[in-house]
Amino acid sequence: MFEKLSPAPQDKIIALIAEFAADERDNKIDLGVGVYKDATGNTPIMTAVQKAEAKRVKDQTTKTYVGMAGNVGFNDAMVDLVLGDSVGKNRVRAAQAPGGTGALRLIADLLNVAKPGATVYISDPTWPNHIPLMEAAGLKTASYPYFDAEKRNVRFDDMCEAVSKMTSDDILLLHGCCHNPTGANLTNEQWDKLTDIIEDAGVFVLVDIAYLGFGDGLTDDAYGVRKLAATLPEMAVAASCSKNFGLYRERVGCAMIIGIDEPSANVTFSQLLSAARANYSMPPDHGAEIVRIILNDKDLRAEWEAELTDVRNHMVTIRKNLAEAMRKRSNSADYDFIAEHRGMFSLIGISQDDVEKLKKDHGVYMVGNSRMNIAGLGVDKIDIFADALAEVSRS
Ligand code: LMR
Repeated sequence: MFEKLSPAPQDKIIALIAEFAADERDNKIDLGVGVYKDATGNTPIMTAVQKAEAKRVKDQTTKTYVGMAGNVGFNDAMVDLVLGDSVGKNRVRAAQAPGGTGALRLIADLLNVAKPGATVYISDPTWPNHIPLMEAAGLKTASYPYFDAEKRNVRFDDMCEAVSKMTSDDILLLHGCCHNPTGANLTNEQWDKLTDIIEDAGVFVLVDIAYLGFGDGLTDDAYGVRKLAATLPEMAVAASCSKNFGLYRERVGCAMIIGIDEPSANVTFSQLLSAARANYSMPPDHGAEIVRIILNDKDLRAEWEAELTDVRNHMVTIRKNLAEAMRKRSNSADYDFIAEHRGMFSLIGISQDDVEKLKKDHGVYMVGNSRMNIAGLGVDKIDIFADALAEVSRS
């Protein structure tokens, strides 16, 4: 059966986790996988999560099945968190999924039932798993211009032009906030303009929002997805709780669909649930129940929001300090963009050779396209990293 198989290509981000773990140097720095680290280099369990977990263990009375949509209270709370009151709830349906990746796959399967083999337009560059994930569901992929590697910002005019040429047979995948890998994001005015262009083109939009709260705040980060939801007749959203609740290994995500009207939302949802049944039947409950408890408890929610604010501020401080450290070393404003970007990542624009040199000579690990996880750099490591970056940039 398996004799003709050749080794699968490795996902670059996942491969880096193992490579970093195997490096025996004490001073190594992990700027690879998108996992938050606090000032001491730990990835803590949020205190609101710990308390919700304790409550759950105390209160849970059964382990019976929950159903294909998973935890209904979680789904309702996530729809509120992400979409607010931008769209009538009668047109929205949501299914809990195993992580943001699971939510994307459910939606991709649904789209391939609705429009078999349709093309999903994906930003250039994007999170590397977007392409295999969409193609595994049977969809085709193509890219649209997104990042200006010289100016380190969004090629907004080029992006708009590409979107204006898409049709109602196409799917446009947008990062809701905190673009992965670039860190360059749309302004609210740009979201407004893009929404008009999308509406004119009639292209179907799927928003991937995996870093809500990591940019400028929970409400600010939701501006784009809410604007789209308020305007478009139909769309889909894949949300993740891996980062903003720090629940990575619990696999907590939510697939949302907005239908043109209530009956259409119901039919579409039945197809989404059918995709869940065929893939894994029902999602794991534990992490979703923790999120449900937090979002429905006034005190725990306030505690979580305060912790999330600390996480965000920590990343902004690292951004500012690193830009300043590079300004001193390069006598230029070449790295100022790091302070302007938002979210967990910035694409810092060094060559693949320099990325390798950073790894080999300095024990600094980042993804090969020079995506750095800002949160991987504790405040105390900024000078060490800035020296290393300045050295490879000079050579
Ligand atoms: C990342 O981009 O590093 C994270 O989303 C982790 C992953 O699954 O790739």
